[in-house]
Amino acid sequence: HIYDHKGLYPGSEEAWQVYSTASDPDGRCVCAVVAPARNLCKRDHRGRQLSLLTQQVQNVSQSVEGVHLRTSRDLRHFRESEPLLRGVDGRLHSYASSPRTLTSKGLQELKGQVTQLQPLLSTADQYRSDVRTLAALRGELLNLSAVLTAMQEEVGAYDYEELQRRVLLLETRLHSCMNKLGCGRLTAVNGPITVRASGSRFGSWMTDAMIPSSDSRVWAMDGFYRGRRVLEYRTMADFTKGQNFVQHLLPHAWAGTGHVVYNGSLYYNKHQSNILVQYHFRSRSVLLQRSLSGAGYNNTFPYSWGGSSDIDLMADETGLWAVYTSILNAGNIVVSRLCPRSLDILRSWSTGFPKRSAGEAFMICGVLYVTNSHLAGAKVHFAYNTNTSTYEYTDVPFHNLYSHISMMDYNPRERALYTWNNGHQVLYNVTLFHVIRTDG
Ligand SMILES: *[C@@H]1O[C@H](CO)[C@@H](O)[C@H](O)[C@H]1NC(C)=O
Ligand SMILES: *[C@@H]1O[C@H](CO)[C@@H](O)[C@H](O)[C@H]1NC(C)=O
Ligand SMILES: *[C@@H]1O[C@H](CO)[C@@H](O)[C@H](O)[C@H]1NC(C)=O
Ligand SMILES: *[C@@H]1O[C@H](CO)[C@@H](O)[C@H](O)[C@H]1NC(C)=O
Ligand SMILES: *[C@@H]1O[C@H](CO)[C@@H](O)[C@H](O)[C@H]1NC(C)=O
Ligand SMILES: *[C@@H]1O[C@H](CO)[C@@H](O)[C@H](O)[C@H]1NC(C)=O
Repeated sequence: HIYDHKGLYPGSEEAWQVYSTASDPDGRCVCAVVAPARNLCKRDHRGRQLSLLTQQVQNVSQSVEGVHLRTSRDLRHFRESEPLLRGVDGRLHSYASSPRTLTSKGLQELKGQVTQLQPLLSTADQYRSDVRTLAALRGELLNLSAVLTAMQEEVGAYDYEELQRRVLLLETRLHSCMNKLGCGRLTAVNGPITVRASGSRFGSWMTDAMIPSSDSRVWAMDGFYRGRRVLEYRTMADFTKGQNFVQHLLPHAWAGTGHVVYNGSLYYNKHQSNILVQYHFRSRSVLLQRSLSGAGYNNTFPYSWGGSSDIDLMADETGLWAVYTSILNAGNIVVSRLCPRSLDILRSWSTGFPKRSAGEAFMICGVLYVTNSHLAGAKVHFAYNTNTSTYEYTDVPFHNLYSHISMMDYNPRERALYTWNNGHQVLYNVTLFHVIRTDG
């Protein structure tokens, strides 16, 4: 391949560059993408080459046209001279067989006829040179078509393979840009927008932040006690209208509202136990059951509203998390990073915040945010950074429209908070404050 492989990797002058800027007023990530300059030049160069070739083809066509015009004129001339030539030929034959019939008058006539035929000589010369020109032109045309074929192959390879790689690279860099911008400190909770009013006072609903945003399936789980019915809507619009859904009946009932859909599976707390269950939607089967060691359950350490909300599972930009507590931790919130494949605890942090005093908790980029109430006037009151193992008190208010919140989870794909607010499904946007590095 003719293209330069160096251009496929970031960091070089040829790479796509993604410049991240601060978020807009709605907290959305804004990225500027700059295409590599050298490759544009390469394309430019190829463009010039192509127009030169086109010009050459036009020149050759013109030459061929000229030769054709001339030869057809010459041919006409030959045709017109043919009777004369035949006449001369006949006379010469008869004089050859009987020389005595050649008179001086006859010789004069013959001379005159041959003089008339003289231009045929230069026409014949022209013909000869035209044959040479035609051979050269034919060679050039063959050459040109070979060059064009090679260029076509090159262009094809360039577009398919390299563009595909570039798109992948671009996606990766955009993703890292999003993450870089997503990893800020929560400074505001905006909205809310009521998406739908459905179900009982308590429940949970969510989308899967780990799958492409073209898949906007919505899952809803009404109630906190012994529920087994999960509704899967095809799109957010379908969820809003309450149409186009399929039902999953879980083999084990759930407890609380702390479920999460992560990478195509539902993770939830099994009723009257601290067992976590991974239910895979596509195969409609339980892949994994695992006890969250020491975690309180059966409404022993719920959030302030009760409802068996002992174990709250959630996902952020950095992975899967469990928020719970144990007797060992004296009822203070513990946050654990979980492996989504084994449900092993990878690491735990003890936050010191009493779980029964928490309204709800959600995770944004490795930071756990805790609200101080599930009722009107609630605000985001406490933040624990797992990256630094430090906490701070915060004062981020949000508008609690319908007074009783039984579920609140952050979705990193949409950078939105999903809440179940007294039988209403409500969304908030978040504003994150971030420091942007311009390198890598
Ligand atoms: C085409 O013909 C023109 C005029 O004869 C000449 O100036 C030009 O260089 C030719 N182009 C190519 C590509 O051969
Ligand atoms: C064909 O193209 C090559 C490379 O462009 C050149 O070296 C060669 O002289 C050309 N042949 C003819 C017959 O024009
Ligand atoms: C998500 O699931 C796919 C297969 O369905 C798997 O290949 C991938 O590793 C999973 N991603 C994470 C982060 O677990
Ligand atoms: C859970 O709590 C209920 C009511 O408080 C009680 O009847 C039941 O025995 C408890 N189950 C377990 C497994 O602790
Ligand atoms: C985590 O902390 C380290 C050092 O304290 C810092 O360099 C890094 O940017 C932090 N990462 C995030 C995602 O906050
Ligand atoms: C979040 O922001 C986006 C973009 O500005 C907007 O379209 C959407 O309606 C907002 N959602 C909420 C819940 O405010």
